[in-house]
Amino acid sequence: MQTVLVTGGTGFIGSHTVISLHESGYEVVIVDNLINSKKEVLNRLERITGKRFKFYNIDCCDRDSLKTVFEQNKIDSVIHFAGLKAVGESVQMPLEYYSNNINSMITVLSLMREYNVNNLVFSSSATVYGQSEDVPFTEESPLGVCTNPYGWTKWMLEQIIKDCANAIPSLKVVLLRYFNPVGAHESGLIGEDPKGIPNNLFPYISKVAAGTLEKLTIHGDDYDTPDGTCLRDYIHVCDLAQGHVKALQYIDNNYAGVNIFNLGTGKGTSVKEAVAAFEKACGHEIPHVIGPRRAGDLPVCYASTAKAEQLLGFKASRDINDMCSSCWNWQVNNPDGLQD
Ligand code: NAD
Ligand code: UFG
Repeated sequence: MQTVLVTGGTGFIGSHTVISLHESGYEVVIVDNLINSKKEVLNRLERITGKRFKFYNIDCCDRDSLKTVFEQNKIDSVIHFAGLKAVGESVQMPLEYYSNNINSMITVLSLMREYNVNNLVFSSSATVYGQSEDVPFTEESPLGVCTNPYGWTKWMLEQIIKDCANAIPSLKVVLLRYFNPVGAHESGLIGEDPKGIPNNLFPYISKVAAGTLEKLTIHGDDYDTPDGTCLRDYIHVCDLAQGHVKALQYIDNNYAGVNIFNLGTGKGTSVKEAVAAFEKACGHEIPHVIGPRRAGDLPVCYASTAKAEQLLGFKASRDINDMCSSCWNWQVNNPDGLQD
């Protein structure tokens, strides 16, 4: 049985991926410093899977502590989710973002080299395509100019990883560029649990639907799109999780080097369509107003999914209604998120 080290494994995408890995027969070791997640996630994962996962409360930038994980476990592969991800916060706190996101990956890579661990899956983002409007984005689309430090950390980390793969011929890497992960596990036991007032659309709509926030502001309805609001490629987090299993299988069956895949559905959904789908899921209207455009927003962003379909055998199976109903189920069951 292969053992996968999942950094950031108590976070939103990491926790859902742990379930998919477990269901696919992998042994999982989780490292997370809980800067943006709760330990309660481990109890929830145990309720869902029946398994108590091995957990280390460690900062991935702390080499000495992280070394003990490699010392104590025979790690075959690493999935590196650990990182800070709030776009607006990254503009306010660039040093924290560069320091955390770059140093954690470098520390993981250096320990992988020391312990001869050769398989890596890295969480990248569609943000690396920058402000291009040439959709759909294929993996060959040029990397763009990012609009915030968070985006630049992904851009830089992709380069750092490529340089390492050039230098270490045995390294096998899959870079996954996620589009807009949303939704929650069908159990309603884990989901997205942001601190404070959410910035992203789905967590915000959920809070409005629940009555915690008064109304949604749609950031602009004068874009050159069918209903004037921006289009995004929302992908259910459980589909995304399955994409990581496919990535590990791909690594097993292929030569060393770096391979890049988009993970999306290939379909653009507008903000107004997302609101309508959520209204259907929760059974009542979502109060909303139209506000000005949000700085830096692309009118249209969606993935070409051809490469992931052909080479990974990955195709998302859940639609926007599944995303909204699972998100709502999580919200209803955990109105205040998870408690520590
Ligand atoms: P998340 O914040 O829920 O999960 C990240 C986890 O990493 C958290 O549990 C946090 O506590 C942990 N962490 C952060 N820094 C750490 C460190 N130095 N050491 C140990 N643990 C640390 O975020 P998520 O949405 O699950 O995202 C996971 C990854 O996917 C991130 O790298 C993120 O940038 C990337 N990504 C997310 C999205 C998205 O929209 N959610 C889109 C594209 C890419
Ligand atoms: N939106 C609103 N009102 C809100 C929040 C969002 O109208 O209160 C709109 C945005 O203007 C945008 C759409 O909903 O048109 C989606 O916005 P999100 O903030 O949910 O997502 P983004 O596409 O802006 O960004 C997300 C992640 C980034 C990542 C990017 C591409 O937050 O980290 O997807 O993967 F880089």
